[in-house]
Amino acid sequence: MKKTVQRWLAILLAAALLCGGMMTANAAYVDDSAAFRISCTVNGDTASARGFCWYTKTDVPTAIRIFDAGTDVTDTLTLDGVTAKPWNGYYMHRLTVNGLAAGTAYTYEITGDGGKTVTGSFRTDDGDDKVSFIGIADVQASSLENFQKGVRTAEAALAMNPEADFVANLGDFTNDSTNEEWDYYAEAFDGFDSGITLAPISGNHDGLGVWHWFENMFCLDTSESVQNLNGVNYSYDYGNAHFAVLNTNDALSVSLSQLRWLYNDMRSTDKDWKIVFMHKSPYTLGKDGKWPDALYLKETLTRVCELTGVDLVMSGHDHQYLRTKSLRNNRVVEDGKGVTYVLSGTAGSKRYEVRDFMLGHFLTLDKLAALTVQKGGENDLGIPHQCYLEDGTLDHYDPNRIGGVFNNITIDGGTLTLKSYVIKDLEEGETEDVITEIDSFTLTKETGKNTVSYTGKNKTSGVQYALGLVPSVMVLAVYTLGNWFPRFLCMLPKLLVTVVTKDVF
Ligand SMILES: [Fe+2]
Repeated sequence: MKKTVQRWLAILLAAALLCGGMMTANAAYVDDSAAFRISCTVNGDTASARGFCWYTKTDVPTAIRIFDAGTDVTDTLTLDGVTAKPWNGYYMHRLTVNGLAAGTAYTYEITGDGGKTVTGSFRTDDGDDKVSFIGIADVQASSLENFQKGVRTAEAALAMNPEADFVANLGDFTNDSTNEEWDYYAEAFDGFDSGITLAPISGNHDGLGVWHWFENMFCLDTSESVQNLNGVNYSYDYGNAHFAVLNTNDALSVSLSQLRWLYNDMRSTDKDWKIVFMHKSPYTLGKDGKWPDALYLKETLTRVCELTGVDLVMSGHDHQYLRTKSLRNNRVVEDGKGVTYVLSGTAGSKRYEVRDFMLGHFLTLDKLAALTVQKGGENDLGIPHQCYLEDGTLDHYDPNRIGGVFNNITIDGGTLTLKSYVIKDLEEGETEDVITEIDSFTLTKETGKNTVSYTGKNKTSGVQYALGLVPSVMVLAVYTLGNWFPRFLCMLPKLLVTVVTKDVF
């Protein structure tokens, strides 16, 4: 009898331990007692400041401590912001940190609800003429599994470029911007985001229509943003480059107010390199290239970039990799004074085919320097869905190009190098990463030639923004009716054939 009781007690104890273990293993990430949705973002002077944002489940004291070579230096810094602001069922904490030393590697600790500490690290700009960064786009996942595929791409980029100063995430962090998706994002990406400075770019899936989602996920410099309802535009310097981040969720993708901001912003820097990050793409062969906003960007934003000497525009949104030749006035130029546009490919698992019905109507192949589509299939114009154009030549289908894309960019004085890669999707039984270079190019320039031509304030009041919407709507209406609609009508027969024969729109 005694042995039977002991046996049952042992079984119950084992079951309790097993259940406890399973509960721990399967517990949702946000049930942990740690802070989550952690980010360290560019915010102001990249040599001396950063923005931090994190979440807790409950309204409890939570704090960040910052360390320089293991010494707690928090009390020597200026921390400013909000803590424990209720947001969608959780509590958001958002702080700017000023007073950091240039060229210094810091670590930080954030204490969460249950006293558990999460650690992270970042490095400030050292003021020389070098900067290196990673570009990824369009993880746009809903399931934890797909977020994990996205972070695999990001981690491959960092493994190849461990000295990267920051990562530019070109938008569409999630698919529907729900709490559940941001929690999955956090579970997959917190380990990555807490190890590097992030420059987030708002995508149309990042809370468009749910006001203030984006600014409540990241601590960004909103002082010059033309509006913060569905994203933020901001700028910063790093190395000898000036970076402007656009918000293409603005009215008509980028309102005239935001274009004016970009125009002033790019003229207010004497940095050698000028780079624009944005979510939507002016040049694309993906499914979104046929809509008025892409043409609007091609007819307006590109002019501002040309006028202000922008060298490189990196974007996302259309889930394929594409690079244009150097363009000015929508034409290829050989004098080195054009703008290069890179559609960065998707780091995630949702990928778009070439919409070949757009060719000739919204884009011509002669403007392209590289194109890689990250999924299988063929189309009707002789363009394999995995292809690489270089001087007009095409590569054919390559299974190693079915995967997530990442971009590593390095600026060293007067040389900018961009290399782009696909990390092949792991198939059943595969464990080894296969990484294939899909594009590489270099821009060179004589440094020290840019001068500041704008020194005024660059802010837009709410009234100015509202008043600016009227001419913005008028400009878009003119483009839509006079430029886009005739092209769309000309394209329509080919589009309808594609819809009927391939069920692709
Ligand atoms: Fe998008």
